[in-house]
Amino acid sequence: MGAVSTTFMAGVELVRQKKAVPVGSLTQMGTIRLGKRTEGRSPKIKDFVKLAKLEDMVFGGWDIFPDSSYEAAAKAGVLDPHHLAAVKPFLSKIKPMTAAFDHEYVKMLDGKHVKKGKTKYDIALQLKDDIANFKKKHGCSRLVMLWCGSTEVFLQPHDVHSTPEKLEEAMKANHPAIAPSMLYAWAAITSGMAYGNGAPNLSVDIPAMQELAHRHGAAIGGKDFKTGQTLIKTVLAPAFKARMLGLNGWFSTNILGNRDGEVLEDPGSFKTKEESKLGALEFILQPHLYPELYKRIHHKVRINYYPPRGDNKEGWDNIDIFGWLGYPMQIKVDFLCRDSILAAPIVLDLVLFLDLAQRAGMRGIQEWLSFYFKSPMTAPKLYPEHDLFIQLMKLKNTLRWMMGEDLITHLGQEYYD
Ligand SMILES: NC(=O)c1ccc[n+]([C@@H]2O[C@H](COP(=O)([O-])OP(=O)(O)OC[C@H]3O[C@@H](n4cnc5c(N)ncnc54)[C@H](O)[C@@H]3O)[C@@H](O)[C@H]2O)c1
Repeated sequence: MGAVSTTFMAGVELVRQKKAVPVGSLTQMGTIRLGKRTEGRSPKIKDFVKLAKLEDMVFGGWDIFPDSSYEAAAKAGVLDPHHLAAVKPFLSKIKPMTAAFDHEYVKMLDGKHVKKGKTKYDIALQLKDDIANFKKKHGCSRLVMLWCGSTEVFLQPHDVHSTPEKLEEAMKANHPAIAPSMLYAWAAITSGMAYGNGAPNLSVDIPAMQELAHRHGAAIGGKDFKTGQTLIKTVLAPAFKARMLGLNGWFSTNILGNRDGEVLEDPGSFKTKEESKLGALEFILQPHLYPELYKRIHHKVRINYYPPRGDNKEGWDNIDIFGWLGYPMQIKVDFLCRDSILAAPIVLDLVLFLDLAQRAGMRGIQEWLSFYFKSPMTAPKLYPEHDLFIQLMKLKNTLRWMMGEDLITHLGQEYYD
């Protein structure tokens, strides 16, 4: 029931009422080229692959506060009054189920709308009951869970995360390496649901969850929606590398005033976000392959909670690059964005694509959905692909492959033979 999830649900309903256009959603607005450039075949993605229809979707969720989605959306202050009024009857009916929550993992929040149980395992079983009851109540044939909850404190991978059996034992023993977000992920996967992680929490990025996903036929993806500053970073950095321009430093700072910003004031939660935001440059620029260009990069990321801005985040980037013969240059980016407006279409696409993947029998990590994540999960020993346009090509080729169409390599020799 946070800013992202209520903006997502409200947006889907506004689109269904034909009062808004789903801008930012690849599944709803994007096309996919098929065959040769001369064939002129570019259907909409939603007509090419059999995605669930917006009209068929129902929504539910959990929160530590009892506010309905309408009350939560009004408090989040993302949407204008005329949009809120149009979805009031719809959002008012979506009331949160009690949360699996522990203040130790999100230090800036405390709420009373929470589950009670002797062990973390008991709480996870209650989440499974919630899922089963929701499915029955709404007559759903399929479910997808997407984590849009707060960012938890930084957790290192631990031995208890290594196998499903150890994970379950640790849940029963209330082990501190089991965060509440893992209980949701465990409940989803063991219920055979697809699961995506919109926050940087470890969550499903551990071997035990990946093994469970295979056992239960669940498609999983993560972590941390790639929406604002990192989206721009993963567009600009590949351009520098493509032209063999060097980089000395990249200073990124943000001001934001929503609850997410407040949660990230806690150093533990910030550390989780920082790790997620820092990874992209290293993987894109590959300093081990280009030491003269990228060996000494000073990369800093700061997030400052500044209430007057609400959900309208400002992300500044100062980028120190160098060119021919080492001459320095600077680029400044000032992105006056809207956090949840950027995140909501990503939530929609992930729900629809994770559901598609699961129906297509694709289990475990869905690397083709890296396009949507700041810190994409991969198979062990693989480095993640962060370049936005490689990610898009991977995504579209996966759709072509699913539907038995030729993959597009962009070679293009056939036009000149
Ligand atoms: N552009 C973006 O908005 C963006 C981008 C990347 C990642 N994210 C991540 O998405 C998440 C949601 O962002 P938001 O702006 O909606 O934040 P938010 O603070 O508005 O919403 C998070 C909600 O999660 C609830 N919550 C916390 N722990 C919970 C638990 N254990 N169980 C149930 N509910 C719980 C909170 O009460 C809150 O209502 C955050 O982790 C954020 O870092 C957002």
